[in-house]
Amino acid sequence: MKSIISSLFALSLLSSFTITAHQCHFPAIFNFGDSNSDTGGLSAAFGQAGPPHGSSFFGSPAGRYCDGRLVIDFIAESLELPYLSAFLDSVGSNFSHGANFATAGSPIRALNSTLRQSGFSPFSLDVQFVQFSNFHDRSQTVRSRGGIYTTILPEADSFSKALYTFDIGQNDLTAGYFAKKTVEQLETYDVPEIISQFKTAVTNIYAQGGRYFWIHNTGPIGCLPYVIEWFPLQASEFDSHGCASSLNQLAQRFNNALKQAVIELKASLSEAAFTYVDVYSAKHELFVHAQGHGFKRSLVSCCGHGGKYNYNKHIGCGKKVVVKGKEIYVGKPCDEPNKAVVWDGVHFTQAANKFIFDKIATGLSMACHRH
Ligand SMILES: *[C@@H]1O[C@H](CO)[C@@H](O)[C@H](O)[C@H]1NC(C)=O
Ligand SMILES: *[C@@H]1O[C@H](CO)[C@@H](O)[C@H](O)[C@H]1NC(C)=O
Repeated sequence: MKSIISSLFALSLLSSFTITAHQCHFPAIFNFGDSNSDTGGLSAAFGQAGPPHGSSFFGSPAGRYCDGRLVIDFIAESLELPYLSAFLDSVGSNFSHGANFATAGSPIRALNSTLRQSGFSPFSLDVQFVQFSNFHDRSQTVRSRGGIYTTILPEADSFSKALYTFDIGQNDLTAGYFAKKTVEQLETYDVPEIISQFKTAVTNIYAQGGRYFWIHNTGPIGCLPYVIEWFPLQASEFDSHGCASSLNQLAQRFNNALKQAVIELKASLSEAAFTYVDVYSAKHELFVHAQGHGFKRSLVSCCGHGGKYNYNKHIGCGKKVVVKGKEIYVGKPCDEPNKAVVWDGVHFTQAANKFIFDKIATGLSMACHRH
């Protein structure tokens, strides 16, 4: 497989790093995104993601749509930082080393529908920026009161030294697809607008002192059960791995536009370091060569109920139904979540997240270098 960290990064690797390379030190992480990196935001706002989420690692639900850790958790571990508290979680949070503004279902661009109508989060990237901006100001005012506040809120200079991480855009694509827009419409009209809003958010964070940006592209949505099950697709629309080709192509078009946006941001925000991180390739590799990487199931969800992919949007992971006064656990997890790629038809398992993290991890120690 080709290098996951894009050429943007690789090209200048030899020229600058061999001479000046020092390990980066990030005292904090500020994360923006959707369920791929939500560590408790949507759960705090709209109700907990129940069991069996969290069962492989935390032992109980931990605000994540996963059996265990997410890529952002492995990033935190690798930087020797605590797991990120969700900004929206007002109980027991500790923001001394960062905050997480991601919520499951978040798009970059605000949608004209409520969570109840469409299942997408109202905390779009522009809102996440407003929350960050509030947090930036107010954390410092409150921290100056001293006492416990100095231990749960970040130091002032953490904001310029922090790693700003992004994993968002998947819901913009799926929302358009679910609303019956064609892939062509989305590519031509929606993607440019979505990417433009992404650039605005990054530019706003830069204006507040952010300097180190770590930007994940979006994954192969055409391999995810909840996307390919939405509309009946013809057999000819699937590739040899069982993924919907046009949807993966849409993700790749989005990614090309995102990569171009990162190049432009790099040119205009001269004091910032950018790393464009190709999680698409890591996820795609895992889907198409799952067995070669020690996994037993690829497209078939671990936790769910029925159908070709063990996924049914009405009978989700963890779902119990009452039949004749008896409760039956229908949305059960599989026996070996550590051998499955897809957790609940929508999200990756911890084992898959670890695989993805391992493919991108080398870039982390250099993410503070401008290149
Ligand atoms: C929401 O509605 C406004 C006004 O009609 C429109 O300009 C905007 O593009 C819509 N947003 C999306 C994501 O469809
Ligand atoms: C918050 O986390 C930091 C770093 O892990 C720790 O030193 C501090 O004691 C924690 N504060 C509280 C109140 O738990």
